Amino acid sequence: MAPIKAALLGFGTVGQGVYEALKTHREQLQNVLGKEVVIEGILVKDRSKKRELDEHVLITTDFDEILNIDGLEVVFEAIVGEEPGFTYLSRALDKGCHVITANKVMFAKHGRSLLDKAEALGRYVGYEATTAGGTPIIRSISQLLQVNEIHAVEAILNGTSNYILTNMREKGLPFHDVLVSAQELGYAEADPASDIEGHDAFYKLMILSELSFGETPKWEDVERKGITEVTREQISVFKDWGYKVKHLARIRRDRDQFISSVKPVLVDADHPLYGVEDVQNAITVETSLAGKVTVQGAGAGRLPTASAMVEDLTYVLQPQPVTRKKKTEQHADNNSESTDFTT
Ligand code: NDP
Ligand code: HSE
Repeated sequence: MAPIKAALLGFGTVGQGVYEALKTHREQLQNVLGKEVVIEGILVKDRSKKRELDEHVLITTDFDEILNIDGLEVVFEAIVGEEPGFTYLSRALDKGCHVITANKVMFAKHGRSLLDKAEALGRYVGYEATTAGGTPIIRSISQLLQVNEIHAVEAILNGTSNYILTNMREKGLPFHDVLVSAQELGYAEADPASDIEGHDAFYKLMILSELSFGETPKWEDVERKGITEVTREQISVFKDWGYKVKHLARIRRDRDQFISSVKPVLVDADHPLYGVEDVQNAITVETSLAGKVTVQGAGAGRLPTASAMVEDLTYVLQPQPVTRKKKTEQHADNNSESTDFTT
C-alpha cells in the first residue's frame, strides 16, 4: 500500500524529535493508520548544517519545493515565530494537505483563521504540541469535555519557568545557571525571554481560552508577568513557610467577563499544582459536571513534543471535533487555593 507522504518544516529540537518518533514508532502508526508514514522533505533555514537523514529525503530552504512533493498529504510545522509559519501552513492547506503545528505564537495569532480555512477545505489542523508539550490537553478539552461547560482553567504552561523555579528551590541553583541548562535540554525557546517573561505561557493560555470558551479576552487586558524578578532568597523564605512559587496561567469566565493572568503565584501544599515539578506542565480545568479535571505531563522537550505531533497524525487522518463554539453564559464560583505573589 502506498505510504502517507509527509513533510517537516523545521529540523531543530522538535523537528528532529518528530523524525525520530516516526521511525521508532513506525509499526504502531502503521497499525493505527493502516499505512506507513514517510517524511519526503524537510524545510530548514540553513542548508549547510550537517543532518543525519535517509538518502531519499529532500532537504531544502525553498518551501515551493516542499509543496511540489508529489502526493504530499501532511505537513508538520516546527519553525520559529508567527511568520513564515502561518503563510506556509495556509498554503499547505490550500494545496490539500492536513497540517500539524507546534508553533504557539503563530497559532495563538492565527489558529482561528487556519481552523476556518481547513474546515472550508475539508482538511484538518493538529495543534496539540502548541500547548504543554506532550500533555494531551487539547484533545482532553476538545474531545473528552464536549458536554461540560468550562468555567476556568488554571495551569503551569511553561516548562522552562517551572524547571527554573523547581531547581532554584530544591537545589538552591542560580536562575541563570538553570536557564542555561533548560536551553541545553531543548526546553527553552530560541529567544528564552519568551519563556521567562511569560509570553510563551500567555500564548498557550490564549489557545486554551479559544478552545474552552470559543473566544479570548482582549490580549491587552491579560496581566502578564514572568519569573525574572523571583530571587533565590525569596524562594528560600517561602520554602521555610511551606510555600512554592509557581508560574501560573489562569483564566476564568464569569458571565460575560474574563479574569485572566499569567504570573508567579504562591501556592501551598493543598494546591493541585503544588507537586508539578521540573519541566512538567499541568492544567486544571474547572467544569460544570466533572468538577476539576487535571492533566499533567512533560511540558517541553524533543520527544514529548514529538509525541503530541505524531499523536495528532491519528487525529488529522481520522478526525474528531477539536473546536468549540463561542459560549454566551458561564457561571462559576471562584474558590482559588493560591495567593498572588508580587516581587
Ligand atoms: P529550534 O530552534 O531547535 O529549531 C527551529 C528549526 O526551524 C530549525 O531547524 C531552523 O532551521 C528552522 N527554521 C527557523 N526559521 C526558519 C525559516 N524561516 N524557514 C525555514 N526553517 C526555519 O526550535 P524548536 O524545535 O525548539 O521549536 C520549534 C517550534 O516548536 C517553535 O515554534 C517552538 O515554540 C515550538 N515548540 C518547541 C518546544 C520545545 O520543547 N523545544 C515544545 C513545543 C513547541 P536550521 O536548522 O537551518 O537553523
Ligand atoms: N519553551 C517552551 C517551554 C517549550 O519551556 O514550555 C514548550 O512549549
